[in-house]
Amino acid sequence: MNSASPPRHTRIAGTGSHLPPRRLSNDDLARQLAAQGIETSDQWIVERTGIRARHFAADGVACSDMALDAARHALEAAACKPEDVDLIIVATSTPDMVFPSTACILQAKLGIVHGCAAFDLQAVCSGFVYGLSVADAMIRSGAARRALVVGAEIFSRILDFTDRTTCVLFGDGAGAVVLEASDAPGLLASELHADGRHVGILCVPGTVAGGRVSGDPLLKMDGQAVFKLAVGVLGDVARSVLEKAGRSEADIDWLIPHQANLRIMQGTARRLKLPMDKLIVTVDEHGNTSAASIPLALDHAVRSGRVARGDTLLLEGVGGGFTWGAVLLDY
Ligand code: ACO
Repeated sequence: MNSASPPRHTRIAGTGSHLPPRRLSNDDLARQLAAQGIETSDQWIVERTGIRARHFAADGVACSDMALDAARHALEAAACKPEDVDLIIVATSTPDMVFPSTACILQAKLGIVHGCAAFDLQAVCSGFVYGLSVADAMIRSGAARRALVVGAEIFSRILDFTDRTTCVLFGDGAGAVVLEASDAPGLLASELHADGRHVGILCVPGTVAGGRVSGDPLLKMDGQAVFKLAVGVLGDVARSVLEKAGRSEADIDWLIPHQANLRIMQGTARRLKLPMDKLIVTVDEHGNTSAASIPLALDHAVRSGRVARGDTLLLEGVGGGFTWGAVLLDY
């Protein structure tokens, strides 16, 4: 590559992830909720969502701790050192602090002292796809050469465990990729969207004011509204990135959607006329880990040998905001 001109492409050099050790099956969670007088069952959760278990972080573990472990694995897979990174983006809705960013805390924990840019990105469950797209643009503009893009979440801390319609859906975890400038693709096309008219259907409405939490700091969701919007926008944005890249549905080796709900994921695969065996599914074991779900699923698929170098992947995110987006890439 000519070092004077910006690189033409961005590629994924390595992936990593972290799951907290504490795993709760649906039965474990149902027992815990029953002790509070809340009724649910493995059968209800599996039938409606495909979720069988989730992982919850221990008290005292911060979002940046999980991000750190995922980032270390991604750096190792990319055969690079923390100091090789010149951009850090952490997609999260559950940061360590109001400020500074979890990305700055991660930078310090990685021991990076050369002053690279680091910031958090808030697009809820679409955060990782947003992060990939932003890092890709910065790399192709020449503003960065090697980026760490992380999705990390501790949703267990913002769940209302008296609301069985939401608390059974989410889990904790982190996933990371190292992106680097490359002569060959790489990321082929991406597209990001938001529609702020739907703020209220999935939100944590509380905030900090005057030294107190003001408003409700726990997750609220209109599940059916989210469901309907998600299936529609995911199909549309998938077709749009394929068209941008001059590819078709038949070129997709693996669909890695946000792992919210198996029925939404299967609906998207059907709209794209993809066989179900091209769908990467980890929601069964991870639950919905919001911004962490796509990089977690990607890393699991890479490490299990399903996703191989040269495969074409379609990553799709959708979440609060309402936000959605997709990235098509050759891995
Ligand atoms: N256990 C047992 N029963 C339950 C539970 C539970 N955990 N939760 C709700 N129910 C009951 C309800 O009380 C209701 O009972 P009723 O008929 O006696 O009133 C019944 O089950 C049906 O409730 P609905 O809310 O209508 O259930 P629905 O079929 O819509 O499924 C779900 C709910 C799974 C949330 C569904 O709407 C959905 O998949 N939505 C998509 C949203 C999603 O996945 N969000 C994840 C976050 S968003 C994101 O990441 C993009």
